[in-house]
Amino acid sequence: MALQFEHTDRFLKETRLYEPDDSTVSRANITAYMRSKGFSTWDELYRWSVANPEEFWSEMARELEWMKPWKTVRRWEPPYVQWFVGAQCNIVHNALDRHMRTPVRNKVAFYWEGEDGARRTLSYADLYQEVNRAASALSKLGITKGDRVIIYLPRIPEQIISMLAVARLGAVHSVVYSAFSAPALRDRINDAQAKAVIACDGYYYQGKLVERKSVVDEALRDNDTVEHVIVVRRTGTDIPWQAGRDVDWAELVASGADRHPVEPVDSEHPLFILYTSGTTGKPKGVVHTHGGYMVGVYTTARFVFDVQPDDIFWCTADPGWVTGHSYIVYGPLINGVTSVFYEGAPTYPDPGRFWSIVQRYGVTIFYTAPTAIRGLMRHGDQWPAQYDLSSLRLLGSVGEPINPEAWVWYREKIGRGQVPIMDTWWQTETGSILITPTPITPLKPGSATRPFLGIEADVVDRSGQPVDANRGGYLVIKQPWPSMMRTIFNDPKRYEVYWNTIPGMYFAGDAAHKDEDGYFWIQGRVDDVISVSGYRLGSMEIESALVGHPAVAEAAVIGKPHPVKGESIKAFVILRKGYDAGEALVSELKQFIRQNIGPIAVPDDIQVVDSLPKTRSGKIMRRLLKAQELGLPIGDVSTLEE
Ligand code: WTA
Repeated sequence: MALQFEHTDRFLKETRLYEPDDSTVSRANITAYMRSKGFSTWDELYRWSVANPEEFWSEMARELEWMKPWKTVRRWEPPYVQWFVGAQCNIVHNALDRHMRTPVRNKVAFYWEGEDGARRTLSYADLYQEVNRAASALSKLGITKGDRVIIYLPRIPEQIISMLAVARLGAVHSVVYSAFSAPALRDRINDAQAKAVIACDGYYYQGKLVERKSVVDEALRDNDTVEHVIVVRRTGTDIPWQAGRDVDWAELVASGADRHPVEPVDSEHPLFILYTSGTTGKPKGVVHTHGGYMVGVYTTARFVFDVQPDDIFWCTADPGWVTGHSYIVYGPLINGVTSVFYEGAPTYPDPGRFWSIVQRYGVTIFYTAPTAIRGLMRHGDQWPAQYDLSSLRLLGSVGEPINPEAWVWYREKIGRGQVPIMDTWWQTETGSILITPTPITPLKPGSATRPFLGIEADVVDRSGQPVDANRGGYLVIKQPWPSMMRTIFNDPKRYEVYWNTIPGMYFAGDAAHKDEDGYFWIQGRVDDVISVSGYRLGSMEIESALVGHPAVAEAAVIGKPHPVKGESIKAFVILRKGYDAGEALVSELKQFIRQNIGPIAVPDDIQVVDSLPKTRSGKIMRRLLKAQELGLPIGDVSTLEE
């Protein structure tokens, strides 16, 4: 990854400080933990945790159940790490089986609500039953330890059930976001060399039926690894069916046994592959393991979201992204918490939908993305004002920097002017939250505050030297942590880049600065990843799709600041001879991207140009386009060809 980011120092200073109230502090899980360790301040606890990370993390790990204990807490052979070496476990045992012996058994695991108003309540015992049957049925189909299974489902209970069933067998799930189109799905199926795909006939979003089965069929043309497509009937519409390959989910699961033993796996055994955009066209298959990931999500859900026995937790993400993996599925379940799981759009049938759900279920902890907050904010205060939001006691934000204006609105209009906001910084690669407040942290709007326990973060220059307070630099993590990715599937070189760009440190790809109180202010990506509504898209992936259209000779794509989505996409295209630049072509190209990647990748603006700035080696200088577009200084142009 080329470091082209120029220092951006801080000019605008946010001076508001929100102290936590006494009742929040006194009931917080983190307070109890701090006292149990004999510390009286967060700073003391934090300093102890980073001086003794193995002690801290193994203490957390011991609260969970392992089938065989570890011999070594951490084996660090940079850039590769192993945690809880020699141990055997299975994350699903800790998410489900463990609770069958406690009162959690009869608690609600998920209140599911469909966009159409359908409802389903699953207790921990129900979920356990469903997951056992599904695991048994999948194992009869031949799915076994280490096999990769693609899960291409919308936010319905079967999405969670199938993740847990696959993991129960020691197989590896790879969840693909349900709105991705056939080519994006195909790339992921092929890269993972998947043995099965779990999909659906279709689903409802924004009131519209979204057909899925033919997308799967198209993605599987010429595929020779997938043996079965298991189809959940969500809509009941007529769909194409390939006898022998296609299997009906309901029939399959009905054939499963009531109990299917959980497969003990090595602590370092892969749990999932989750694809995320990189700077080159091919998405990166981020690999996470059972042991370390389990400890990371358990610990952060407990101390950051402060989950307690009577909480109703709602993370609005999709398990197609890492936030859903960690804070809809694994983190809450391991903690035995009750969650809400909603299928649809935030604004369907009107912009009060989220708040009506908060009121109906008495949600106490609500975790969403700045893009959703800004979007709902735009619809006006009258929507949240119509609902009783008094159950809320903690709010969360993730996916992009949250601007102070949206932060304050969130606290005022959703949090009654008193509910603390956990602005959590982390990534697909980090597995769990790394920079974040806890309920006892004084908050500054727009800052993710400080590193979590056991996490040593800093802002440095290219050579790894810490920069001064309020100076821009690169956000790095200096020590490995349990839930970090272990590799990029089938591409260790791309993994190593994370640790050798700034030698000896994990470089996340984000720019940041730290203020004089040690608070971190994240500025965004330094590379060419565009973050639309919190979803990371590679410029190259969009460009290569554009060039796939017969009219397009060359394409360059940049992200532009956008008041609601964080960034919007602008594409520059050079046309092939014989094609006319006009409205019709532009809308055709947008449609083309929609079909080839998905709706979130559609550029807001497509401009036809005669040439593109390139380096001598032929790489498009997106940085230049961006500077021009935003009216910024052009900077170093020494590598420019023309
Ligand atoms: C950005 C999502 C500022 C950041 C969990 C990171 C954030 C990328 C925050 C990871 C935050 C995430 N403040 N920026 N609180 N949280 N980001 O892999 O640029 O989908 O590198 O993981 O989102 O996106 P990913």
